[in-house]
Amino acid sequence: MNKPVDMTSVTPAPFNVQAVREDFPILTRKVYDKPLVYLDNAASAQKPSIVIDAMTDLMESGYANVHRGLHYLSNSATTRFEDARKTAARFINASETHEVIFTSGATDAINLVADSFGADIKPGDEIILSVMEHHSNIVPWHFLRERFGAVLKWVKMTDTGDLDMESYRQAFSPRTKIVALTHMSNALGTINPAKELIDIAHAQGAPVLLDGCQAAVHLPIDVQDLDVDFYAFSGHKVYGPTGIGVLYGKSNLLNAMRPYRGGGEMIEQVSLDKVTYGSLPQKFEAGTPPIIEAIGLGAALEYMMGLDRAAVAAHEADLLAYATERLEGLNSVRVFAAAPHQKGSILSFVVEGAHPHDISTIIDRAGIAIRAGHHCAQPLMDRLNMTATARASFALYNTRKEVDLFIEALEKARVLLG
Ligand SMILES: Cc1ncc(COP(=O)(O)O)c(C=O)c1O
Repeated sequence: MNKPVDMTSVTPAPFNVQAVREDFPILTRKVYDKPLVYLDNAASAQKPSIVIDAMTDLMESGYANVHRGLHYLSNSATTRFEDARKTAARFINASETHEVIFTSGATDAINLVADSFGADIKPGDEIILSVMEHHSNIVPWHFLRERFGAVLKWVKMTDTGDLDMESYRQAFSPRTKIVALTHMSNALGTINPAKELIDIAHAQGAPVLLDGCQAAVHLPIDVQDLDVDFYAFSGHKVYGPTGIGVLYGKSNLLNAMRPYRGGGEMIEQVSLDKVTYGSLPQKFEAGTPPIIEAIGLGAALEYMMGLDRAAVAAHEADLLAYATERLEGLNSVRVFAAAPHQKGSILSFVVEGAHPHDISTIIDRAGIAIRAGHHCAQPLMDRLNMTATARASFALYNTRKEVDLFIEALEKARVLLG
């Protein structure tokens, strides 16, 4: 038998951004005859060949429906699908694979928790949210307010773009039902102190859902170390496909919750007057699951775990620092939350006298893809006294040279609009 490899003695290869870029076929394309500079990663990230190949290979030579077939292809597709779940569990260090529920994305995952965990909510029960949430982590809770009289308690944000910890502590009461907060803001890049937030909530007896949509791609996620109760993220932001996401939940909580959607796959027994439900994770996965997408997600997460993530984080931190410095060096540019306590590689900014949409449209002609708008975070825009910002968000394949092209295009746009 081979001796197991001692991973602690293996030195990962240093991060090589050019080699990484070769993994992403789209990065060689041009738009308007200019090299594509893709800085809209917080909206959705590009896909490495390994993901594209895994999905194509399944469709070309391994495709069948999962779980209920007794034939070869169904069994092998089931194995690959369930392997993807094991990979996702490893990616977030879940202790049990069945604590990973495949959903259609983070939005779906949060709706699942609001609907099922919130099923016994009573008028006056309280839900703690923050003003920096994405609408996906606001609207499902508004449903509970509208339909059952739940009360939403809002954690404030400081001028530095951090969560106001005093406001957080004060939000708790004996009626607190759940805390639902973003791990990393999609509009500002602020990384919230997840462990501290969770400790405070647990001391008050409240469970915590973290919206990990942005954090999962930039930070190592360890749900056991965080002791988080629910964790949600989307496949398409972690270099995987659309149509797939993960809800992690502690099994005691998930077991106690009613199913979210009814249909095939999630039942144990159905008769004319009775239905009993399957166990985790199937209980929450009604209908044919996103098989191809789950396998693509598994490939994306394997891809990420195969990289030296500390080196990736250092590269992204360098891009953020460099881009912030260059952006702040421009006249008439205002950067929001340039230096909160901890920040991921997202830059929100406005150019005085120019609408963010105009900026985005003009620099698009130079091949630069950024986002402009409210970023599905209107309460945050209200807090900033803005209706929209421009947002550049960086991924592991971006380079300093691309930052330079972005700044150059921005300068030209500013002159043109000024
Ligand atoms: C912080 C955050 N939460 C939730 C979502 C919703 O993700 P999805 O649309 O993939 O469900 C996003 C997407 O931008 C996000 O950035």
